[in-house]
Amino acid sequence: MSNSTQTFSLAYRPDLAASFLSLDVAWPAFIEPSRLLVNWGLDVHSQYQLVVLDQETTVARVAALPIQWDGHPDSLPDRGWDGIVEQSVTDTHRGAALNTLCALEVGVSSNHAGRGLSRTALTALRDEARRLGFEHLIVPVRPTGKAERPDEPIDSYVARRRDDGFPVDNWLRVHERLGARMVGLCPTAMTVVAPIYRWRQWTDLPFNRSGVITVPGGIAPVTVNHELDYAAYVEPNVWMEHPLTSPAQSERTL
Ligand SMILES: CC(C)(COP(=O)(O)OP(=O)(O)OC[C@H]1O[C@@H](n2cnc3c(N)ncnc32)[C@H](O)[C@@H]1OP(=O)(O)O)[C@@H](O)C(=O)NCCC(=O)NCCS
Repeated sequence: MSNSTQTFSLAYRPDLAASFLSLDVAWPAFIEPSRLLVNWGLDVHSQYQLVVLDQETTVARVAALPIQWDGHPDSLPDRGWDGIVEQSVTDTHRGAALNTLCALEVGVSSNHAGRGLSRTALTALRDEARRLGFEHLIVPVRPTGKAERPDEPIDSYVARRRDDGFPVDNWLRVHERLGARMVGLCPTAMTVVAPIYRWRQWTDLPFNRSGVITVPGGIAPVTVNHELDYAAYVEPNVWMEHPLTSPAQSERTL
């Protein structure tokens, strides 16, 4: 891991907003930036949007929004990522006590992947959540390695462990190594429903018949209804909670 990095919030360094937004993160094309997050969250909650710089180059970013949460996994939104963005808007608007920070994206520049920067970024967010006095830090984690097993049910996928006891999934593993624990599954965390022509643009696949198919980068299948001219993707995530205790207590080794 690079030790030449520095992390700033967009509240402290608004001049970094453009490089935050334009970072070349390897998302599948069908997962488009959330307008609410970009046009509302980055403005209203700029202190929770973090930029990781290596020298003067932006190499990673974290997007997070605050919500009010009673600490019970059952009361987290069924719509996961989408639900958290909406809840942050409504909780902020009604002046609720925002006691929980929710990470929505950790993105590492494709040119700097595999250097451990995701851990740097998550650790910076956790430190910031501690410093700001949040009670909880939660994440609807997208198990990125599941793109190799899109048809497998999420509960059996997350149960896959390596010999060292950590999850087979690389992204769940990063969170668990930092001391996070799974608090629930979110089968309907992100939904993408669009006309067939959009799916063709995103994937370069023909989408010429109805049925269930897999697409590159998808961690779940896509259901195609050719007659009605749309296809629907519903992605499962895993709710994880990071400890906000002292740093010495929260790192985990098995
Ligand atoms: C997922 C992502 C944040 C990981 O960031 P990163 O800094 O490149 O990852 P790291 O270098 O910290 O590696 C994390 C783990 O994944 C493993 N890993 C890295 N690249 C991998 C790959 N292409 N395939 C499988 N495992 C991989 C590493 O070996 C490491 O595991 P280990 O700690 O057991 O050795 C980054 O790939 C990314 O931005 N992806 C696109 C956006 C995204 O999916 N974000 C996460 C959901 S919000």
